[in-house]
Amino acid sequence: MTTILVTGAAGQIGSELAIALRKKYGEERVVATDIRMPTDEALRDSGPFESLDVLDENQITRVMQQYKVDTIFHLAAILSAIGETRPNVAWRVNMGGLYNMLEAARQYKCSMFFPSSIGAFGPSTPMDDTPQDTIMRPETMYGVTKLSGELLCDYYFQRFGVDTRGVRFPGLISYETEPGGGTTDYAVEIFFEAIKHQKYTCYLRDDCSLDMMYMPDAIRAMIDLMEADPSRLVHRNAFNITAMSFTPEILAAEIRKFIPDFEIGYNVDPVRQKIADSWPNRMDDLAAREEWNWAPEYDLPSMTSIMIEAVKKKFEV
Ligand code: NAD
Ligand code: SER
Repeated sequence: MTTILVTGAAGQIGSELAIALRKKYGEERVVATDIRMPTDEALRDSGPFESLDVLDENQITRVMQQYKVDTIFHLAAILSAIGETRPNVAWRVNMGGLYNMLEAARQYKCSMFFPSSIGAFGPSTPMDDTPQDTIMRPETMYGVTKLSGELLCDYYFQRFGVDTRGVRFPGLISYETEPGGGTTDYAVEIFFEAIKHQKYTCYLRDDCSLDMMYMPDAIRAMIDLMEADPSRLVHRNAFNITAMSFTPEILAAEIRKFIPDFEIGYNVDPVRQKIADSWPNRMDDLAAREEWNWAPEYDLPSMTSIMIEAVKKKFEV
């Protein structure tokens, strides 16, 4: 990786990924881009930032040529819950943006990372120990774009030799930048409400089990996969990866170890609950472990204790 472009860099993942890449490869070598300005000063001030709409081919060409990009992390997208309220926008941004960035990768001979999701699975997928290769019939627009995206990335690899790689992320938990309208966002909101008000009303059912991961593991996964020896990769788009699997009730119990008075209530949102019910309880990530040595560092207890401390500190400032 010599010069790296990150799309959607103002988002929950991009804001932390761009900083991690700058630390590892050099500040000037990582071009952060988004349609909105990042809220995070560290990201704005630590290297180049360009306003870039992934639906605008002219803007893409300008940035690709100006910086001589050779690696793309394509994160710009509409997430699952917003995607269900605005499916037309989700299709346009997720598929149109991906197509434009794959074309740029082909033309400028770049490698490209594309994040898929647990959302690429559907209700007919085996829910427990969900295999790497299995039935995939997603019933959300988000899932349709993620599964189509995986296929399109594989097509660009097979047909044009573009070095595309991706993972199926679970819900990601972090405190730096707010999540952008997903179904798993409760697992972030709960920490902020627990610290501020010692109570939280959850929009998913108490027993709704989903895969989750603490953000530093997700950042490391993206970089490790892009640096992995290509001769070992049997799969490319996209690898199951997970770190923990829990329900809102289990997470609340873990938080109570630090905040004994914490209370959780439930006001189930049928739209997000239906989405969550169609996603795995826990994925099997053996292929990622075997092909590029994936292993998470953070489990539920370690993630919870770090999140509690970090969110407390955020409110003190
Ligand atoms: P986010 O919503 O926080 O960030 C997405 C960013 O894309 C936003 O900053 C937004 O301004 C930008 N964007 C939207 N439309 C754009 C356009 N037309 N041009 C350029 N930028 C545009 O999302 P995130 O959580 O950071 O997710 C990044 C990627 O990872 C997405 O593809 C998402 O599907 C995937 N993913 C995220 C999670 C998660 O839990 N966060 C889990 C699985 C997969
Ligand atoms: N966290 C994401 C979402 O809920 C999963 O892709 O949309």
